[in-house]
Amino acid sequence: MKLLLVGCGNMGGALLAGWLDTGVSPGDVVGVDPAPAPAAAALGPDIVGSAKEIPAAFKPDMIIIAVKPQGIEDVVPAFSNLAAGAATLSIVAGTTIGKLSGLIGGSPAIVRAMPNTPAAIGRGISVLCANERTSATARETAGKLMSAVGEVAWVEDESLLDPVTAVSGSGPAYIFLLAECLAEAGVAAGLPGNLARQLARATVAGAGEMLHRTDTPAAALRENVTSPGGTTEAALGALMADDGMQPLLTEAIRRATERSRELAG
Ligand SMILES: NC(=O)c1ccc[n+]([C@@H]2O[C@H](COP(=O)([O-])OP(=O)(O)OC[C@H]3O[C@@H](n4cnc5c(N)ncnc54)[C@H](OP(=O)(O)O)[C@@H]3O)[C@@H](O)[C@H]2O)c1
Repeated sequence: MKLLLVGCGNMGGALLAGWLDTGVSPGDVVGVDPAPAPAAAALGPDIVGSAKEIPAAFKPDMIIIAVKPQGIEDVVPAFSNLAAGAATLSIVAGTTIGKLSGLIGGSPAIVRAMPNTPAAIGRGISVLCANERTSATARETAGKLMSAVGEVAWVEDESLLDPVTAVSGSGPAYIFLLAECLAEAGVAAGLPGNLARQLARATVAGAGEMLHRTDTPAAALRENVTSPGGTTEAALGALMADDGMQPLLTEAIRRATERSRELAG
């Protein structure tokens, strides 16, 4: 299995590290990036500066596009020849399978994936969608490549990638904001800033780790720390009120979904 990784920045570098950790040989990967992230450059595989420098004998089975969406029109056509004999896996946010197909030309096999930033520590979640030209083998390969940096789920309907982007793609930012707000609320309740930030950080990380380590539903974990008439119940009275967290998050996800649709054009 030969892999061509176009874009060796934060996400491309995380993928590359994950592949090597799961047994992919450095000799089976060629990277293309005029300015790879230092962490990616140090991993071992050859990284060339442009499509023209890819060794002629290197025929990839899968081309992974991990560049920024801006300027994608200039990047992808340079790989059209190689894409004719390979499947393409794109993690480029907001760039549809239809747009990628047009840029590659012909009838390419394309898998589009939406990962998120915890991929950098192998704890991301990626949602994948393939076009009808993609073989079962290529689907399986794409799933394996993305599972090197976390969990994988599939959708058949590409339009679902807009709410996916809103929930898990942008989602880590909401959780970081929760840690910020919790710390700020602690300060308002009289705690020193440093202690409030330490408590908020450890609490968000610890609660996230509990979710990670068990299949117990989030609602049950919440109920486990809520004694009748206690402090948690007092706080949840505000957070679970009709104007509490749920309507706020529903509105946030609605806006992000709408923005994702706008960006996809
Ligand atoms: N980070 C996330 O949470 C996340 C989540 C979902 C999807 N994504 C998607 O992942 C993609 C990559 O994001 P990122 O955060 O990894 O961005 P990044 O760190 O900027 O990485 C992109 C890399 O591609 C390089 N590049 C630019 N032009 C190129 C070309 N013509 N050929 C080859 N490489 C080229 C860039 O070099 P320069 O720095 O010199 O431009 C950079 O090293 C984006 O499309 C983003 O939408 C990211």
